[in-house]
Amino acid sequence: MSASLTSSASVVRLLSLLREFAGFRPTPQLERKLEKVFQGMGEAALARWVESLQADASRRELMALVEDLTNHETYFFRDPPQLEVLSRHVLPALVREKQKRGDKTLRLWSAACSTGEEAWTLAMMALTALLDAGIARERRPGDIWLPPDWRLEVMGTDISRQAIRVARDAAYRTESLASFRQFPERYRRFFDDVPAAAGQPAYRHVGPALRPYLRFDLFNLISPAPPCRDQDLVICRNVLIYLDIGMHAQVQRGLRDALRPGGFLMLGVVDRLHLCEDFHDRWFERCVIHERK
Ligand SMILES: C[S@@+](CC[C@H](N)C(=O)[O-])C[C@H]1O[C@@H](n2cnc3c(N)ncnc32)[C@H](O)[C@@H]1O
Repeated sequence: MSASLTSSASVVRLLSLLREFAGFRPTPQLERKLEKVFQGMGEAALARWVESLQADASRRELMALVEDLTNHETYFFRDPPQLEVLSRHVLPALVREKQKRGDKTLRLWSAACSTGEEAWTLAMMALTALLDAGIARERRPGDIWLPPDWRLEVMGTDISRQAIRVARDAAYRTESLASFRQFPERYRRFFDDVPAAAGQPAYRHVGPALRPYLRFDLFNLISPAPPCRDQDLVICRNVLIYLDIGMHAQVQRGLRDALRPGGFLMLGVVDRLHLCEDFHDRWFERCVIHERK
């Protein structure tokens, strides 16, 4: 951030408000975005605005600012080596364990799911694990159903209302560098193609086989309590890098509290686990997943 901005008491107050409210740390990307927001605003106007943000108990204006500052970069099957660990080892093991215990609900949470691709990815992989175990059945490609006594509950959450709206819509554009840039062909059957039409780009819709299993909600990771409990798997990737390091342990406590004992936590490849005493590390090649004690 330019020296003139960091020397502004209002900017310092705003950064501290953003840290308190959403855990944000001043990355260069955040600073560039803030500079855009401040453009043309004099010091006096900036001071009044920050004061009003602080005073507004509804946090509506602050939420609107958070929308402008968050990075929603995501795509289906992001970070394939980690997902291989889930699809080849963790999900099949969870399904086997559930079968053995007669507990027929699989609960998965994608925390900070952005526009939903990560949560839909989890659902596709979980349903495939249930198919491979002979529990789910496929009548025609993509027409997959679970017997009535089995449940798959996948939740996606994010701080951004706009991102959650897109996630719930579940319609993704297909042009290059979009959501499907690394999409494995075998999962195409979970989608319906919608060809380009007058002024509308081509996109793919998540098909009806997957939709009943997903729920998307707003959730701020620095909230003191998690939005769900008894999860078998929680995945929280590519978000801690945007949050103040002093907030990481607090965020991870929320993720831990969402898990049942024996449930798994997967962080991003560059993230460090702070609550080592609460987890066993399980290594698969070069990927680690943390099992709650
Ligand atoms: C780069 S995306 C990562 C999406 C997905 N997890 C992935 O790996 O592809 C980061 C997401 O974190 C969300 N986010 C940032 N701060 C958050 C917070 N305090 N609580 C919840 N979500 C947050 C952003 O809105 C954004 O959608």
